Amino acid sequence: MNPQHGFSAAEAESFYELVASRRDCRHFKRGAPVEAAQLQRILQAGYQSPSVGLMQPWRLLRIADAGLREALAACVEAERQATAAALGPRSDEFLHLKVEGIKDCAEVLALVLAPDDGTVFGRRTLAAEMALTSVGCMVQNLWLAARVENLGLGWVSMFEPAEVGTLLRLPVGAQALGLLCIGPVDEFYPAPMLTLEGWRTPRPLDQMMYTDYWPEGPENTSHGN
Ligand SMILES: Cc1cc2nc3c(=O)[nH]c(=O)nc-3n(C[C@H](O)[C@H](O)[C@H](O)COP(=O)(O)O)c2cc1C
Repeated sequence: MNPQHGFSAAEAESFYELVASRRDCRHFKRGAPVEAAQLQRILQAGYQSPSVGLMQPWRLLRIADAGLREALAACVEAERQATAAALGPRSDEFLHLKVEGIKDCAEVLALVLAPDDGTVFGRRTLAAEMALTSVGCMVQNLWLAARVENLGLGWVSMFEPAEVGTLLRLPVGAQALGLLCIGPVDEFYPAPMLTLEGWRTPRPLDQMMYTDYWPEGPENTSHGN
């Protein structure tokens, strides 16, 4: 690709449509595979993500062992129950939400923060945060690439990281950050599923942009849970 390529208005429109139609997916077509070439393109998009100091602190473990997938799903289920208990009055409502599609999706990629390689560039003051946010940037590329391949991706973060770390045989200093579920879906939700299900409404953009200084007075934090 020519790096000087200027995007046409139609291409820009497609891009914004892609961004707007990306969804966190939890309902997958059971048994429907992801083509190897598709997965490779998605991984390549992730590989092209930005990272602090070009640290590339993420690793992905493709889960091929069905028993390991089952064990990971059990970790998520345990944490789902613990989350429900922590939610008190919204516990039942939460338990009705679908929060993962680990058993049905074509591919599970365990997302891991690699042991810190000591990168200083851009991380002298916010070392942990910059490594983590770099991992987040990578996942966003995966998410968009999956969407453009018409595949769903769901980031599952409900688990006890030490348990998942043991299952994945992670070394000291590595941290499991997600189980990424990828695969064909019957449909992409028209809006975040949490909004469709009445769990939470997104804060409008104009309430998230300030000029120069943080405004006086408390932010409206009535979002909850
Ligand atoms: C870091 C991170 C962790 C997440 N973990 C979960 C999860 O464990 N289970 C789940 O159902 N959704 C999870 N999500 C998805 C969010 O709920 C979702 O992105 C949000 O509701 C907005 O919906 P959308 O991505 O479809 O726009 C996670 C998203 C992010 C960025």
